[in-house]
Amino acid sequence: MEHSPVAARLVHASKRYGDHVAVDALDLTLHAGETLALLGPNGAGKTTAIRLLLGLARPTGGSAEIFGRDPRERRTRERVGAMLQVSNVPATLTVAEHLALFASYYPRPFPLRDVIELACLQSLTKRRFEALSGGERQRLFFALAICGNPDVLFLDEPSAGLDVETRETLWTGVRELVARGKSVLLTTHYLHEADALAHRIVLLSAGAVLAEGTPAELKALATDGNGAPATLERAYLSLMKAVA
Ligand SMILES: Nc1ncnc2c1ncn2[C@@H]1O[C@H](COP(=O)(O)OP(=O)(O)O)[C@@H](O)[C@H]1O
Ligand SMILES: [Mg+2]
Repeated sequence: MEHSPVAARLVHASKRYGDHVAVDALDLTLHAGETLALLGPNGAGKTTAIRLLLGLARPTGGSAEIFGRDPRERRTRERVGAMLQVSNVPATLTVAEHLALFASYYPRPFPLRDVIELACLQSLTKRRFEALSGGERQRLFFALAICGNPDVLFLDEPSAGLDVETRETLWTGVRELVARGKSVLLTTHYLHEADALAHRIVLLSAGAVLAEGTPAELKALATDGNGAPATLERAYLSLMKAVA
């Protein structure tokens, strides 16, 4: 991964809101073809980092780049898909209508059939958004994030509140996209999810990197000599305790 091209990058990026520093001189690199999990407690700056990379927020210091370019440029945005924590779409359009509308924004969208399959929406295409359950809405938001055939995908807590089957669907979709050469940056509070999906993990605390490495490297930090299995959860908790 070290030598693969850079898909998305924050270079010494900061985001300040008044006196509060949400992201603090953060260097973050998403390599092409990798899945990177951004972990950290509530308020660590994960969503802000994604918003900087999407060009939705402007850094107060440093810079954000997608394939070396400004995230706000149209031809950059056409290569990016995102699933954010707060999403809203017209309630009375059906799943199929939403997908057709979103796909029309992109020059080279995925065939709708592929998107519907990747997000397991086959039986829901005629259903209006307002009638979808929470998990079904999440699947639609995932479908909307990927329908433009993006090279870089940002997923901000995509599996929050999902049942086990829906989460599995999402994981399969992510793995399928990565197999097609896409790059994925995801945030999650499910450490098992980070372990299952990510090539690399970056742990944020107070807007800065606390630790980073492969899941195996981070787990190795959790060996405490008691013979208990090293899990990502134990590594996370001991790293967080060290800065508390
Ligand atoms: N628009 C905003 N105005 C003021 N403070 C904000 C804004 N957005 C985020 N913050 C603050 O920045 C910090 C990081 O937030 P966020 O990036 O959403 O964290 P995370 O996604 O890791 O939970 C939090 O303390 C949050 O309250
Ligand atoms: Mg967040």
